[in-house]
Amino acid sequence: MKAYRIHRYGGPECASLDEAPEPELRAHDLLVRIAGVSLNPVDYKTRHGALRVLYRPKLPATLGNDLAGEVIAVGSAVAGFKVGDRVIACSRINDMGSFAEVARIDARCASLAPSSIDLATASALPLAGQTAQQALRDLLHIRPGMHVLITAGAGGVGCLAIQLAKSMGAEVSTTASPRGDALVRAMGADHVIDYTTTDLASLGRTFDAVFDLAGGDALDACFKVARPGSTVISIAGLPTPSAASKALGMGMGIKTLFWLASLGLRRKAAANGVSYHYYFLHPNSSDLSALAAMVDAGTLKIIADRHFPFEQIADAMAYLEAGHAKGKVVVTL
Ligand SMILES: NC(=O)c1ccc[n+]([C@@H]2O[C@H](COP(=O)([O-])OP(=O)(O)OC[C@H]3O[C@@H](n4cnc5c(N)ncnc54)[C@H](OP(=O)(O)O)[C@@H]3O)[C@@H](O)[C@H]2O)c1
Repeated sequence: MKAYRIHRYGGPECASLDEAPEPELRAHDLLVRIAGVSLNPVDYKTRHGALRVLYRPKLPATLGNDLAGEVIAVGSAVAGFKVGDRVIACSRINDMGSFAEVARIDARCASLAPSSIDLATASALPLAGQTAQQALRDLLHIRPGMHVLITAGAGGVGCLAIQLAKSMGAEVSTTASPRGDALVRAMGADHVIDYTTTDLASLGRTFDAVFDLAGGDALDACFKVARPGSTVISIAGLPTPSAASKALGMGMGIKTLFWLASLGLRRKAAANGVSYHYYFLHPNSSDLSALAAMVDAGTLKIIADRHFPFEQIADAMAYLEAGHAKGKVVVTL
């Protein structure tokens, strides 16, 4: 089968679409004939080797976490799925391999696909959707009336996060450039801050909760605009030891490394009277099914910026890596 694999860590030249053996089915797995995959920044970060400290796949390794397709085989310990089911899923970070004609996925990370949209587009939901849903619901505890800031609202996670925060009853502010302004308003954002002209930090202590998808200087500014006592959750800053350990079961050595790496951010947060946490998503069937149901109910829209054919997956990756995607980038098989 064809698969998009990394052969060594580095730039785009380190990955190629080549012949690979089909994956072996484990007891908890589904084997899926892929109809579409969506791309996430974790794909090019993995290719770069930026995540080697977290997990180190044996090379060559097939990239990709998000998938949509038809089940062609079911592992002996799987309940609730059968051959022929249309499914979507996002693998755990250390169990990637969806950029292929056939992929295996732990069934505990899968859900039946929404029936109201095409399968390839549905592949844009799992990773971005669950990240936003879990961070807003479980860490920021968004409740009606809260004013939440979501940075980088026009990207893959941002478009879903704005809609989910609105569905939880929040007032939503987001940062976007003029290129993303119309899109984030269409997603339901109440206020748009043009990050190319406005210094976020100048807004003052405005927000009850902050979900940062941008990292860097934007994250520093988030600490200054969150109300004292509130929480800033980032998925783009430096991981905190508890987040890394919960997601990947890390030992003391790695926990210490992340404790040191995130110390500067935690200090900046503390100096502003707010708490800082990083979040790694936890793929699971029940959260994903709930999101798929929202799509079918018409209460959650998937924004696919561009669809690429599988033969052009390197172009799709370059497009995402340029950092200006509006919504999700999807590859169709
Ligand atoms: N920890 C986890 O579990 C997890 C899960 C998912 C994603 N992530 C991380 O979250 C981040 C976002 O992911 P994504 O999929 O949403 O990325 P993405 O789709 O590539 O985001 C691109 C968008 O971000 C906007 N943007 C870039 N810098 C910005 C800034 N400083 N302020 C406001 N907007 C900005 C761009 O807008 P313009 O082009 O208009 O500037 C573009 O529309 C990535 O770092 C990713 O690795 C982590």
